[in-house]
Amino acid sequence: MHHHLESARISPTAHYTGHVWYRNGLSSPALKTRRGAAMFHVLEPFLRVGSVVTGGLTLEGALLLRHRLIDETLDRLIRRGDVRQVVEIAGGLSARGVRVAERYRSEGLTYVEGDLPDMAAQKRAVLASASLLEPNHHIVAMDALADTGELSLGAATRGVVDEAKGTAVITEGLLPYFDRATVEGIWRRLAQFLRRFPRGAYISDLNLRMAADTLGAVKMFRHLLSWYTGGAVHWHFADEPSAVASLRSQGFGSVSVHAPSYPPPTARVAARISQWVWPHPVPDGLVRVLEAIAGDDRA
Ligand SMILES: C[S@@+](CC[C@H](N)C(=O)[O-])C[C@H]1O[C@@H](n2cnc3c(N)ncnc32)[C@H](O)[C@@H]1O
Repeated sequence: MHHHLESARISPTAHYTGHVWYRNGLSSPALKTRRGAAMFHVLEPFLRVGSVVTGGLTLEGALLLRHRLIDETLDRLIRRGDVRQVVEIAGGLSARGVRVAERYRSEGLTYVEGDLPDMAAQKRAVLASASLLEPNHHIVAMDALADTGELSLGAATRGVVDEAKGTAVITEGLLPYFDRATVEGIWRRLAQFLRRFPRGAYISDLNLRMAADTLGAVKMFRHLLSWYTGGAVHWHFADEPSAVASLRSQGFGSVSVHAPSYPPPTARVAARISQWVWPHPVPDGLVRVLEAIAGDDRA
């Protein structure tokens, strides 16, 4: 049977980021969509021009930094032996589950991806028909906002996760769609969920307001994205300390915030050119990834 992912029930932003992963060799043709490619190519000229003020960092560049930084953070936890099971919430059209389940299959790693029911069903069908669903890779219907019921984190992963394994939960590109109270509710549920496992870590991208709103253009982009997605796009925390404090009050112990260690080479060249045309301060902190350990472990 032929499966396709063109359904309007997949969120536009998932199509867009899915195309970015595909274009950059981080995904597979099975997860590529015409919608994602069309959105990307329509927006790209504007985003390139806009990147003059961000030191050459385009939206694509920022997404790639975030995606790779999450990959690196997860890889480090797996290699250290702290994590043998991953639960990624709101996986969308990302291929991280495919890549990580395949890479660590022989080491006994389990990868569980959850998304809203339509997205989860379509992704499962597409990956299965492309023979990309490893036996250690599960795709389940889940709602990050559900406290109870069959879509809640606990119920959706019941029988799939092993409570004896160190576990990492990932969210990528999900938090900006919710207000601060809702995000804190998600964090509280995640901290609670992770405490069942011998070790629990949470990895997510973090958008800091201070870094973003110093630049009119980035602020404008945030409003544009709000308009396009038909809901507010929230950057909840002004700076790192306030994000860390919030995570700790929701039940996480030690929290680290990672910054990308290098700008991509194309961004470096673009930054030189833009500074030459128009010297201006370039904001730092546009891309950050948090790593939070569940419980009171301050190690
Ligand atoms: C911007 S996409 C990001 C997808 C993927 N993480 C990536 O980076 O490519 C947002 C995803 O969040 C999912 N989503 C939205 N609300 C959700 C909820 N309440 N629970 C779980 N997933 C949700 C959407 O279906 C969509 O796949």
